Amino acid sequence: MKKLYLIANWKMNPTTPKQAEKLAGEIVLRLKKVKPSRKLETVLCPPFLYLPNVIAKTFGGAIKQGGQNCHFEDSGAYTGEISPKMLKNAGCKYVIIGHSERRMYFEEKGELINKKITAALKNKLVPILAVGEKKGESLSVVKGQLKGALKNISEKDIKKIVIAYEPVWAIGTGNPATPDEALSAKILIQKTLGELYSAKLAGLVPVIYGGSTDSKNILSFIEEGGMDGALVGGSSLKASEFVKMASAMNK
Ligand code: PGA
Repeated sequence: MKKLYLIANWKMNPTTPKQAEKLAGEIVLRLKKVKPSRKLETVLCPPFLYLPNVIAKTFGGAIKQGGQNCHFEDSGAYTGEISPKMLKNAGCKYVIIGHSERRMYFEEKGELINKKITAALKNKLVPILAVGEKKGESLSVVKGQLKGALKNISEKDIKKIVIAYEPVWAIGTGNPATPDEALSAKILIQKTLGELYSAKLAGLVPVIYGGSTDSKNILSFIEEGGMDGALVGGSSLKASEFVKMASAMNK
């Protein structure tokens, strides 16, 4: 059975450690009642500061943890940064890299994202590489983003990456892509991976969707859009809604 991913991106929320603990704790409790009928990997990516709180609440359970970003060096004079080694040593399994908000507000692009992916892999973290076109741009932008991010990433390592297709115009707007649009993006992503590696390897890389997902639309992205799960922003900040998404995916 194909593995499905439900990945929470809390972004810069909530504003107190207590709230972060409460949210994680509620997710854990509610998720216990969801009988897994598929292989569902649930991941919480809180702000760095709350990782210990979230890990304490989720320790030993089915939920994995991830960072929302990382630096490309393991340590050193980089004021304000968090390294992939730190994330690994704190207990994380995943790290989101190249989110559109980082591309937009922090001018992250090709070479830097590629360095971060390389560093994450070196530290045995699973990079969740986010790609997506802005409003008015064509899907070919995604091809360029993939080529930039995956430069010199080996055949062995490409199998360890999760790709999140997140059209920028769908993020936080309440206007998700249609499952058909998601499917077109998936086809383009697999074609690009096929060119960079092989069709066989392309088929092994999970592609998830992000952008205004909720418990009502998530299943359509999996069943009609061919997606392997979702990267979830707004809906991951409400324990009941997030766990409803997990239940819907278990159908
Ligand atoms: P959203 O965010 O679910 O709030 O649209 C998704 C994301 O930015 O990862």
